[in-house]
Amino acid sequence: MSTDDWKRQAAEQALSFVEDGMKLGLGTGSTAAKFVELLGARVRTGLKVICVPTSEATRIQAAALGIPLSTLDETPSLDLTVDGADELDEDLRLIKGGGGALLREKIVAVASERVVIIADNSKLVDVLGRFPLPLEVVPFGLRATEGLIGKLAADIGLEGDITLRRGTDGKPFLTDNGNHILDCAFGSIDDPEALEDALKLVPGVVESGLFLGIADVGIIAGPKGVEVLAGIEIDFEEDV
Ligand code: A5P
Repeated sequence: MSTDDWKRQAAEQALSFVEDGMKLGLGTGSTAAKFVELLGARVRTGLKVICVPTSEATRIQAAALGIPLSTLDETPSLDLTVDGADELDEDLRLIKGGGGALLREKIVAVASERVVIIADNSKLVDVLGRFPLPLEVVPFGLRATEGLIGKLAADIGLEGDITLRRGTDGKPFLTDNGNHILDCAFGSIDDPEALEDALKLVPGVVESGLFLGIADVGIIAGPKGVEVLAGIEIDFEEDV
């Protein structure tokens, strides 16, 4: 089996959390895309859901599959969001934003009663930080913002390259919200809460890719099968 198969397995397991009539948040990335694909098949056979996508890419995929879509303005509270992650630890703390959708992902996740993260086992880490932390930043004052991030990170013992993400055309990557992404290679983040608190002090940082206290369940698939990390009680008997 390949990483792709494990992503699909995790996505399949996440479907057991979906119930008829639910309002769903749809994540972004290759793993979330597998969930959207499977959800589309259920919708075609009669499942009734209404979904809020976390990116333009997911909106386009879901629309093509005939999944009924809404926005957070029309549907401000959701029952369940299923999304991927770039990293997660045993406490369900995450790094997200590898695909650049972290701001919408966080807004949608926080608007959801339950958040299920799906991933292949390469994403599970003891300590967050192997994956450079993405930060969504406004273009104005970029260098000043970068400098302050570096200073505040150093104050809590974190150092490393802070890189402006670029697209395949070499131009600074633009998020769906017209912002840029700074990827911060700080290495092991022993105290993610302290870093998150520090980043909130930087005016140019719109949002960080640290998702702390947001995920309720992690579904991790790998060569040894599917592992479920849960901060809540779960019942896999529910019919989809
Ligand atoms: C998108 O911005 C990210 O948060 C994704 O959820 C994350 O990058 C996981 O993507 P993959 O499932 O493609 O690894």
